[in-house]
Amino acid sequence: MFFLDLPLMFKLKRMLQTDKKIIIAIDGYSSSGKSTLAKEIAKILDYKYIDSGAMYRAVTLFAIRNNIIDPKSHQVDEEKLRSLINQVHINFKYNSEKNRQETYLNNENVEDEIREMEVSDNVSFISKYGFVREKMVNFQQEMGREKGIVMDGRDIGTVVFPNAELKIFMNADAKVRAERRFLELKEKNVNVSFDEILENVKKRDHIDETREESPLKKAVDSVELDNSNMNRQEQLDWIVGLVKERIS
Ligand code: DC
Repeated sequence: MFFLDLPLMFKLKRMLQTDKKIIIAIDGYSSSGKSTLAKEIAKILDYKYIDSGAMYRAVTLFAIRNNIIDPKSHQVDEEKLRSLINQVHINFKYNSEKNRQETYLNNENVEDEIREMEVSDNVSFISKYGFVREKMVNFQQEMGREKGIVMDGRDIGTVVFPNAELKIFMNADAKVRAERRFLELKEKNVNVSFDEILENVKKRDHIDETREESPLKKAVDSVELDNSNMNRQEQLDWIVGLVKERIS
């Protein structure tokens, strides 16, 4: 949910008003608050917001549905994935009723399904393949061709937009991140325990950091934010300061 009230929003919009458009790349650990911050700053700047993780989640859902991955053992039929990857078409549409951007897989709205635990548990086993990443990265670069975009993920500042004008690397303590995810899922009535989430967060950190293809790592020219003890307003003030610097 967007927490900014209108007067503050307009004040920030005025403060950051310019014709110059930049690319903002936000990378970091899972549930570190990347998407919340990315959406807020995109809204203030009137930029496109792209959740690149949603794209890997959509491919994972496609793989589960087509028996390419066994969701229990995480065994992947790599050849089948390679031969079907071009049948995966992803796009985003804004849902004004729900006030959110939604992910479409082959013209079907899969926004809720891709957030479920089964997808979360399997996404790292699909996103590690170079041919999957190549397809997603091409699409992401295409979306950023005209700049004016905020994209969050794991490799946005390192691989997708190495020349982004502003790169942010976000982190927070694993327990704090699991707690946030737990509250988010509880709100959606997803029945899952805190321990399960903590385990999923730690497992994904490990896979994301150690995979061969585009591992999660801080771009040398990125600015780091550990938000374990920061509220949303403090984080927003922080990024607004940085954007102001980069657009002037
Ligand atoms: O941001 P998220 O937790 O929804 O991302 C889901 C998974 O997708 C995450 O485990 C790692 C992967 N991912 C990736 O490999 N590269 C990206 N740019 C974004 C996400």
